Amino acid sequence: MGSLFSSSTSLRKSVRISDDEFVQLRDFIYDKSGIFVDIKRKYLFESRFSKRLAELGLPSFADYIKYLKFDTKKIDELAKLFELVTTNETSFCRDMKQLEAFQANVLKEKIDEQRKAGKKEINIWSAGCSSGEEPYTLAILLHESLKMELPSWNIKITAVDLSPAMIDRAKKGVYGDYAFKTTPDDIKNKYFSQDPGGWKIKSAVAKLVDFQQMNLNESASLKRIARSHIVFCRNVIIYFDEDMKKRVVSSFYDNLMPGGYLMLGHSETLHKISSTFKPIYHPGTISYKKEG
Ligand SMILES: C[S@@+](CC[C@H](N)C(=O)[O-])C[C@H]1O[C@@H](n2cnc3c(N)ncnc32)[C@H](O)[C@@H]1O
Repeated sequence: MGSLFSSSTSLRKSVRISDDEFVQLRDFIYDKSGIFVDIKRKYLFESRFSKRLAELGLPSFADYIKYLKFDTKKIDELAKLFELVTTNETSFCRDMKQLEAFQANVLKEKIDEQRKAGKKEINIWSAGCSSGEEPYTLAILLHESLKMELPSWNIKITAVDLSPAMIDRAKKGVYGDYAFKTTPDDIKNKYFSQDPGGWKIKSAVAKLVDFQQMNLNESASLKRIARSHIVFCRNVIIYFDEDMKKRVVSSFYDNLMPGGYLMLGHSETLHKISSTFKPIYHPGTISYKKEG
């Protein structure tokens, strides 16, 4: 299981959490999001939630748990809670080797197939898109692959994340230097324009992506996503327990069209999670194919 929390530490005095409160809060988070927090990370609850408890004027975790369950503002608090328990680490062109292998193999296969079928349509689902760098990168790869032909294609990238704050940031499409730490300069200069807030994604790229706040734990919501040729879910299932991984991967399988592909992060695998996909080995990455 990956590191759940980003590394910010606070000098504020931590509110202590008992084992019983930890289990209650952990189970509540799991129930709502599928994110599983190991007891070894109990101290991280203390360091990350203490500021929030102070903001709400709540002296203990027992009070916070009551607030989450019974207060009239409990729905709004869920968004804050999700922000505290997730890490949104991402960047443009993250894991370039994988993306190059994806572009040369998976994307090329789908483009060729669609051309042959005279369909010129590609749907991609980016599940756990954080602040948008991954789906925008996919939109850039489509521009790079289709070039002048792109306007005659119907491309739809549906990008979802649990965090409303990340979705807002993604929709704005303005990024600082950190987001480009894995991005070649020529890509940055071609697809972004300078903006007072940093670098803004160009509209030709942005218009291919549709952002929505969505919880991968809510299977009814997932059924509303258009059928996809490709699903990207990188560096997300690492935070789920085995049961949640199985449910989410099974939703991806149902969503994919026959012949579609699932792409995971380089440290993630379907081993013990699903045997319905066929692993395809490319130099630099594995893709998982739904055989049709
Ligand atoms: C580490 S980021 C990965 C971002 C991007 N896929 C990448 O690889 O660069 C993980 C993202 O998964 C999202 N996430 C975690 N649990 C989720 C859930 N139950 N539903 C939707 N998104 C979730 C988090 O909010 C976070 O933005």
